[in-house]
Amino acid sequence: MWIICLALIACVTVEAQKVSNPNTRLLDNILSYVDTEVSACDDYFGHACGKYAKKHLDDPFTEITQMVDHKVNQDLLTLMQELEQRSLQPNFNRTGVEAKVWSFYHTCRNASSDTRSGRHYLTLVPPDEGLTWPQFTPEGSVWPGERFKWMETLARLHRYGEVNILMKVFIQSSPNNSSEYVMDLSMPSLEETGQRLRPFLETMRTLAVLGVPTASAITLTKKIKSLETALRNIIDEDDDDTNGQYMTVRQLQRRTGVHWQKFIELLLGQPIEPQFRVNVQSLGYFKALVQLLNDREPNVVASYMMTRLMLYLWEETMDSEEPLECVKDVRRNMNLATSLLYKERFLGSAGHLQRNSASVVQTFEQLRRQFLRLVKRNRLRLDRTQRKMITQKVHDMVLNIGNMPQHIDHRRYVSQHYASLDMSSGYLDYARSHLQLLEFRNRQWMSQLSHSPHRVSEYYYITDSSTGMSSSPYYMIRQNVIIVPYGFLQEPVFLPDSHNVFKFSLLGFILAHELMHAFDGHGVIYDGQGNLSEAGLQIGNSARFEAGLECINRNETAYLNERVADIDGIQLAYDAYFGAESHQNRTQPDFTDMPLQRIFFLNLAQFFCGNGDASNFLDHDTDAVRLKQTLTNFAAFYEAFQCPTALSTERCQLW
Ligand SMILES: *[C@@H]1O[C@H](CO)[C@@H](O)[C@H](O)[C@H]1NC(C)=O
Ligand SMILES: *[C@@H]1O[C@H](CO)[C@@H](O)[C@H](O)[C@H]1NC(C)=O
Ligand SMILES: *[C@@H]1O[C@H](CO)[C@@H](O)[C@H](O)[C@H]1NC(C)=O
Ligand SMILES: *[C@@H]1O[C@H](CO)[C@@H](O)[C@H](O)[C@H]1NC(C)=O
Ligand SMILES: *[C@@H]1O[C@H](CO)[C@@H](O)[C@H](O)[C@H]1NC(C)=O
Ligand SMILES: *[C@@H]1O[C@H](CO)[C@@H](O)[C@H](O)[C@H]1NC(C)=O
Ligand SMILES: *[C@@H]1O[C@H](CO)[C@@H](O)[C@H](O)[C@H]1NC(C)=O
Ligand SMILES: [Zn+2]
Repeated sequence: MWIICLALIACVTVEAQKVSNPNTRLLDNILSYVDTEVSACDDYFGHACGKYAKKHLDDPFTEITQMVDHKVNQDLLTLMQELEQRSLQPNFNRTGVEAKVWSFYHTCRNASSDTRSGRHYLTLVPPDEGLTWPQFTPEGSVWPGERFKWMETLARLHRYGEVNILMKVFIQSSPNNSSEYVMDLSMPSLEETGQRLRPFLETMRTLAVLGVPTASAITLTKKIKSLETALRNIIDEDDDDTNGQYMTVRQLQRRTGVHWQKFIELLLGQPIEPQFRVNVQSLGYFKALVQLLNDREPNVVASYMMTRLMLYLWEETMDSEEPLECVKDVRRNMNLATSLLYKERFLGSAGHLQRNSASVVQTFEQLRRQFLRLVKRNRLRLDRTQRKMITQKVHDMVLNIGNMPQHIDHRRYVSQHYASLDMSSGYLDYARSHLQLLEFRNRQWMSQLSHSPHRVSEYYYITDSSTGMSSSPYYMIRQNVIIVPYGFLQEPVFLPDSHNVFKFSLLGFILAHELMHAFDGHGVIYDGQGNLSEAGLQIGNSARFEAGLECINRNETAYLNERVADIDGIQLAYDAYFGAESHQNRTQPDFTDMPLQRIFFLNLAQFFCGNGDASNFLDHDTDAVRLKQTLTNFAAFYEAFQCPTALSTERCQLW
């Protein structure tokens, strides 16, 4: 080790850093972001995060969760290089998980670029057996439009995941019984630009790329754009905002006049009974859709579906043969396998994972206890039944580290999971492998219809592509589970042998935030089993709960539940550590003279520091706004930084 290290200066510094005191290291890192020229009282984001941009000028990430993802990706890259070596050994298991992961990575790296082209994808996904997309019709012959059955083609396309073409198909827990999964049929989402055709000229170019002759591209673009406009009109006119209705496939067929049984059978790849139950959101939309599609020329309908499919597939791939991009492709498409290999390679040794997990669980247990104290205090004046439901729910909440089923052999589980996936093939074809993985994942989603009930200990989330690429924790409302991906448990987010003030202020806050999602305006209506709860609905509609939400929304946000989770989350994390009942050791530690309260808030800020632009923030306010709102009127914060306590207004909170 030393010899290798001496040869590499960088390695020596890394080693030196590793042996330093973890607390000193974490604190130094925090302080390196602080801009002392900016007053903490006037502009806390500017103070705590002022030097972030300068420090990370050349880095390929703009904030801490991206940094963690980047570290994970680099580790995975090392793993891929090792797999490359191992794959050359005679004893490499050609049917094992490693081989499958390696195969996709290798395909991504080395397949020829024409196997990534849109035209190639489209030859692999024809509209029907023995039927091509219109533009591939041989010269001199006519596309046999009469053989195109849009409903069947639609089913074939929906086999590749949440394609959002003309409708959405989801497998969801039914409201009253979270372990019963039902197929949900609803209108497509067309609000965001990524969910629609692109602007006119771009769409024309896309059609050209997909092989549509220039001569017909203008007309075809006009027609498919007009089809989408008609679709949006139907959606806008639809005022049926009920939660949908359960009906059998037979009933749905009668009401809409199209062959849904065939659709679902093609989608599932197996026969169903006419009594098969689906949840239909806005039947009116489906009636209008059938009329619309039956009225349009078949080649226009086909071309629209084909274009939307390609836009979806392009979103689903990193579309690059660069090593890091291919690692991301593997991560998002084979998340379960990647998690397993990451765990075994980087967390497996010397009880590292056990120590990490034990420490995270301990922190979480303190948060759980603190929340129970809140419920006991009963600011919302809940009645006995309501309190019992909430208490039970926080007791039932499960922390799933790694997004794996609990208490079983992970390697065996993951091997079985991928058993039916055959990635070996003669020549490398990126589109074929990619489609194969999308279809495989969709089959896993669909199969929830038949093998429920899931006990919560057997549960893990079959990640969609964006969740699969991220290491950030999230809360699953219908399972009452907080998932913490393995990659999140690393410096500077979390170090098992660091001082507790670090644990509670960063990961502790994030877990508290997720915990609070169980009790925000949306989460509170479900009980600890994830079933719709009468008591929960009462709480959600109670005057005090509504007043709490309204107060938090005083400075208006489009993401009210996120703000609830921030505001109540910071209180929870703070009290779990500093609260009188928490029994934490708050003696001044010997690694610094800085008061613990100040460390707490500076470390909290790490989660929000960044230099990305506003477009980085999906479904949340920007980090600067979040940090400000989280700490507004928070007395402990003003105290920590000795800010003038102009607390004329009371701090809003929900619980
Ligand atoms: C190779 O991997 C498969 C699938 O994980 C497993 O069933 C088989 O036992 C392994 N073979 C060897 C020789 O380890
Ligand atoms: C795959 O491609 C990389 C560069 O893109 C090259 O270095 C490597 O030798 C190739 N591997 C194989 C097995 O072709
Ligand atoms: C769920 O339960 C409520 C109350 O018991 C009932 O009114 C409702 O119809 C049920 N919903 C479904 C989808 O079964
Ligand atoms: C609530 O959910 C659990 C677990 O998913 C299920 O087993 C149970 O039957 C449900 N309870 C009711 C009253 O439906
Ligand atoms: C909930 O659904 C599961 C799976 O379909 C079923 O076994 C169970 O009996 C259901 N519970 C209730 C209360 O309906
Ligand atoms: C509390 O922490 C201080 C400083 O970190 C330490 O010296 C002391 O032993 C701890 N007290 C207890 C009761 O653990
Ligand atoms: C609301 O928040 C914005 C952004 O943080 C801030 O500029 C504004 O002053 C706030 N308004 C009030 C009333 O707090
Ligand atoms: Zn959140």
